[in-house]
Amino acid sequence: MNQIHTYTDQQLKIWIEDQSQAESLAVRADEIRRSIYGTDVYLRGLIEFTNYCKNNCYYCGIRCGNSQVDRYRLSRDQIMDCCEEGYRLGYRTIVLQGGEDPYYKDENICRIVSDIKKRYPDCAVTLSIGEKSRASYQAYFDAGADRFLLREETSNEGHYRKLHPEGMSMTRRQECLFALKEIGFQVGAGFMVDSPYQTTEDIIADLRFLEKLQPDMIGIGPYVTHSDTPFAAYPSGSVDKTLRLISILRIMFPYVLLPATTALGTMDPLGREKGLKAGANVIMPNLSPTDVRKKYSLYDNKICTGEESAQCRDCLELRVKNAGYRIVTSRGDVKRVY
Ligand code: 5AD
Ligand code: FES
Repeated sequence: MNQIHTYTDQQLKIWIEDQSQAESLAVRADEIRRSIYGTDVYLRGLIEFTNYCKNNCYYCGIRCGNSQVDRYRLSRDQIMDCCEEGYRLGYRTIVLQGGEDPYYKDENICRIVSDIKKRYPDCAVTLSIGEKSRASYQAYFDAGADRFLLREETSNEGHYRKLHPEGMSMTRRQECLFALKEIGFQVGAGFMVDSPYQTTEDIIADLRFLEKLQPDMIGIGPYVTHSDTPFAAYPSGSVDKTLRLISILRIMFPYVLLPATTALGTMDPLGREKGLKAGANVIMPNLSPTDVRKKYSLYDNKICTGEESAQCRDCLELRVKNAGYRIVTSRGDVKRVY
């Protein structure tokens, strides 16, 4: 039986803010993870297929207002080549991530999804392409997409307004997440740690939102400054706080899939290993063609933008092993028993 504990705001505040809690949180989180997922770590091959975006989020490097970005789109053939490489490397989940790029119509997305599913029926396909209509989400699902990642970013309306320009709406984003769940996607939500103006109370609001949504995956990583955004002057987030939050999420949502994110690895050379030890059980290596990797720059100094995919694969094998876990080749679906 899955137990869903609720913790008081006061308890959560202490866990979020106090580094002396880190060790005991991590021990407890690791115990929970081992009881459900053992030492297994799942890989998701990430294909960043377009860095065009119609949105202008203040924190994000590929916002439409950033004229410094060298924009690119991958063709269907290029995407299929990445999938082939990913399959060869043992990845059984392909994540298609991009900015909100109106160039790709629903039928293009559906075609890509169904091509991948046809060629690799034992792979899960995850989409991470932003806010769409319910009908669009339904079409992607019908085409074979299994999962969808859409971080809520923040669950406080006032904070949402500080991170996003006029025209973007927290309510709409949350509605998207509930629609995705109703349609039948395995859903991933999440937020940045220490995004500008974020308070502990905002993080607690995120945890409460996640309790309502009950997502299958929760992606969190530190906010990392990008020098060509309006938030260039805001410092990057805390690795330690991110690690405490990974543990808190594992404790609050025992069954959830938790990535040790690239942002965490960017802020600390051992960030992803520390993330695993704190309770994470997923890693999302980059599968994009090497010549576009630097262009998908959500934040400064992103790691793994020069390596070949095979290099990342070997590098991760070693890192995961050294942290005391093991990479498994499977789809890595959520183990939910409720
Ligand atoms: N630092 C860290 N994470 C970021 N994202 C976007 N910009 C940044 C940044 N500057 C995250 C957002 C988005 C995900 C794809 O990347 O949370 O949902
Ligand atoms: Fe990319 Fe280590 S994961 S080089």
